[in-house]
Amino acid sequence: MNDVYEKVMELAKRRGFIWPTSECYGSVAGFIDYGPLGAMMKRRLEDIWRYFYVIQEGYYEIECPTIAQEAVFIASGHLKGFSDKMCQCPHCNEFLRADHVAEGGGIAGGATMSNEELSAAIASCKCLSCGEVLGKVEVFNFNLMFKTSIGPGSQRTGYLRPETAQGMFVDFTRLLRFYRDHLPFGVVQIGKSYRNEISPRQGMIRLREFTHAEAEIFVHPDKKDHPNFSRYANYKMPLFTAIQQEKNEQPITITMKEAVKQGLIANEYIAYYLALTHDMLVKIGIKTERLRFRQHLCTERAHYASDCWDAEIYSSRFGWVETVGIADRTDYDLTAHAQHSGTPMTVFIQYEEPKKIQRRRIIPNMSVLGKQYRTKAKAVFDALSNATPDVDGAEIEVDGEKIHIPINLFEVRDEVIEVRGEDIVPHVIEPSYGIDRMCYAVLEQAYDEDIADGETRTVLRFSPTIAPVQVAVFPLMNRDGLDTIARDITHALQKQRILAEYDDSGAIGRRYRRQDEIGTPFAITIDYQTKEDHTVTVRDRDSMKQIRVNIDRIPELISTLLNGTIHFSSL
Ligand code: ATP
Ligand code: GLY
Repeated sequence: MNDVYEKVMELAKRRGFIWPTSECYGSVAGFIDYGPLGAMMKRRLEDIWRYFYVIQEGYYEIECPTIAQEAVFIASGHLKGFSDKMCQCPHCNEFLRADHVAEGGGIAGGATMSNEELSAAIASCKCLSCGEVLGKVEVFNFNLMFKTSIGPGSQRTGYLRPETAQGMFVDFTRLLRFYRDHLPFGVVQIGKSYRNEISPRQGMIRLREFTHAEAEIFVHPDKKDHPNFSRYANYKMPLFTAIQQEKNEQPITITMKEAVKQGLIANEYIAYYLALTHDMLVKIGIKTERLRFRQHLCTERAHYASDCWDAEIYSSRFGWVETVGIADRTDYDLTAHAQHSGTPMTVFIQYEEPKKIQRRRIIPNMSVLGKQYRTKAKAVFDALSNATPDVDGAEIEVDGEKIHIPINLFEVRDEVIEVRGEDIVPHVIEPSYGIDRMCYAVLEQAYDEDIADGETRTVLRFSPTIAPVQVAVFPLMNRDGLDTIARDITHALQKQRILAEYDDSGAIGRRYRRQDEIGTPFAITIDYQTKEDHTVTVRDRDSMKQIRVNIDRIPELISTLLNGTIHFSSL
């Protein structure tokens, strides 16, 4: 099918899924509005994500502000390093992502080149906006964070968060207490993130404000075996490992158990969340043949990551699009926040058996040292306690001054002490989902056209779990009591928390088409037979087949069809 993107976007705008924001003032690139159906579909998608992480995994959700003070992003490294490479077209003055210009010119790896290398590489490439050959242009770093000031008088600098993750890291000590000081534990957050993208020209794929759904799982650095690994150990999926990319080979399909065993995936935690992500994406309607997991090459990993994979979904318009990033962030963030804030971010891990440890203790003779060093005595004491003395005494440094303390002014005592445990900084495993990219992929893959009653029918083949309107209810005629029965059925469905849309306008065939176009999976029609035998028809969107069902069974039947317990074809 040609021009799927144009068709999907036209349908999305016309039927109220998404549209550009503030159109009456001329919209701003990188910002979109979700219309009535889009907002509903997005909520359903977010709830499926919550099902996996909050219900299945047991990781509670928190909600932090979207603006944070500068100190947070100094520590996290975003202020210094969260930038893209930018250039400006000398012909049309458009600002461009320099690595994207390179990619457009068939040059890979632009994001990992130095600015000078990239500037040389793109000289022969064409501007992505006006199409002229760029020539020699300067490439510079552009920080993607939106800056703001907090309070009147610009006293305090703040930034709109570029990821939800930092809120969860700076809350670490409170979260640790909530989870009763035990590892592993996880916490999730779903909300808006902001990135001042240089040139957002890919619709829902690249936004300046987008919905991020992230999980931070705090684990012992030496225990990266997932406690429930068996759930996904035999789960098979396509992996595009760094090795295969380097050798120009195709992705391999392999079980998670085997991938960890062969060292293709760094640990069970990463493997578990790769599989969980595959499981979830398939459940929301992504076709398996359009899904692969690509490992980052070591040159492209984020500053904090030791192993990183992207779930990529194939788009007929954009090619393979990163939609979820799954990274082992190690102790990078907690160590950085501990250093910058002065708050220890460690967990006390008790040994199974207390350990006996040999310790050398230095006991200064304070009556002599106190008199000799007076105001400096405390500093001398501290430095001496940590010194490594020899037979002559100890060399210490206090306020830049080197001091020799003779051996007779302290005692060295070797002792054995019992240690119950140690403080460690946990590592963090992070699956990070872009909800808008998931929404776009679902829309693109659900879009279909077929022939019904001799006419082209447009249909969104949504999985029933994410369809915004779940069932339509049609009285064949708006009279003779059919409308009253239809309204009663609608209310009975609503009581089951099902979004049912009552529609009595126009020919029945038109009503079916309207619902097919927005992906409503089932439609119930009340006709004259209903008055005789208390049955209605239930129509399946995809097959367009109909069955007759007793009215009393409708709410339960529709619930089970929606939650996937039964499939229409089995009825
Ligand atoms: P890209 O390379 O496409 O810019 P990224 O590597 O910067 O993406 P991450 O920082 O790993 O993306 O963010 C995690 C997820 O958040 C991505 O997989 C994507 O789904 C989503 N995301 C990131 N940036 C955007 C954006 N500008 N618009 C929409 N979603 C985004
Ligand atoms: N939290 C992962 C990312 O935004 O890159």
